[in-house]
This record gives sequence, C-alpha cells and structure tokens, in this order.
Amino acid sequence: MAREPIHYTEYFEPVCKVLGDWGLLVLSLDASGKPNPMTIGWGTLGIVWSRPMWAVLVRPSRYTYDCLEQTGDFTVCVPPAALDDVAMFCGTVSGRDHDKLAEQGLTVLPSETIRSPGIAECPIVYECTVVQKTDVVPEAFDPRIVQQCYPQGDFHRVYFGEILRTTADREAVKTLLG
Ligand SMILES: Cc1cc2nc3c(=O)[nH]c(=O)nc-3n(C[C@H](O)[C@H](O)[C@H](O)COP(=O)(O)O)c2cc1C
Repeated sequence: MAREPIHYTEYFEPVCKVLGDWGLLVLSLDASGKPNPMTIGWGTLGIVWSRPMWAVLVRPSRYTYDCLEQTGDFTVCVPPAALDDVAMFCGTVSGRDHDKLAEQGLTVLPSETIRSPGIAECPIVYECTVVQKTDVVPEAFDPRIVQQCYPQGDFHRVYFGEILRTTADREAVKTLLG
C-alpha cells in the first residue's frame, strides 16, 4: 500500500458510512504491548478545543477500556467492505483472550506520532492522543436513549483523541465501500 498523509476531513462521508455499516476499528495497546483492535459503531469526527478530534465511546466492560486507560492513545482504522467480517470478529471477541490481529492475519502499521499502531489493510488511519476523557451522566440522558442503549448499564466513557496525523492509501480508498 502506498500510504500518504491527508487532511483529517478528507473522505468524511465514506468514513461515516463505514462507521454506521460494519464499523471502524479502535486500536490501542494492552499492558504487555499487544495491539488490540475493537469495533466501534458510534463516534464523532470533528473539531473540539480548536483541535481535530475523534470522540469514541467505550464501555468499561471492554478490554479496550483498560488499554486506553494505560496507553493514553489510539488509532481509528477504517476497514474496507472486504474486511466487514474482521469488523464483526473484532466486535464480538475480546482481546482479554484473543490476539485479534494475529488471528485475522492483519498487519501492524507503526504510527509516527503515538505508540498505538494502525492496521496496514485499512485504507485510512487516524493517529489520536487522548486529551480528555469523560463518563456520560446517566441522569442527563433523554430517557429513550437509556432504554435503547443502556439496558444493562455499563455506561460509556468518552475518549477525546486529538488527531495528530491521518494517512490514506488513495488507491485502496476507492474500494472502501466495495
Ligand atoms: C458493529 C459494532 C459496533 C460496536 N460499537 C461499539 C462502541 O461504539 N463502543 C463499545 O464500547 N463497544 C462497541 N461494540 C462492542 C465491542 O466491539 C465488543 O464488545 C468487543 O468484543 C470488545 O473488544 P475488547 O474486549 O477487546 O475491547 C461494537 C460491536 C460491533 C459488532
């Protein structure tokens, strides 16, 4: 893959489509240094505190929660349609008892600005450093959201990751949506 730096707003529309369809991969490191990808279906790409930002929502029950607490950075990787099964796998098994990258035959892509790596097979990768984390306030929700999204509690922690670098393989982006 010929990867080059891009502006973080490029490909906003297809990235949102992937987020809502098969999901994006948030990749962080565990305490032993093992990279662990987790699928997200919710997240916001925009500007906060005058900085380009990914805000991702992670439930405390996820291994990724432990990883983010200890690493303090993450990548957001955009898997192409051909890897929608990988997104399902990374969204249904835990890094507590799986080496998801190895089991899915994925290639680690070293980051330039943070410790957590990306995934070489993902056409777009954002390198993010956590600049704020905050727990959602259950009492502050519209009750419909609590009913729909939190039947078991496990309320999300929102990690705000300043985007330090975004890279893309423009040829591979053409096949992102299949
Ligand atoms: C399409 C999809 C979207 C998901 N979105 C989220 C999300 O936004 N936040 C979250 O905490 N879990 C989400 N999950 C669940 C986690 O990806 C799943 O529990 C995963 O196995 C956790 O991995 P980990 O324990 O290695 O962190 C999603 C799962 C799928 C399949």
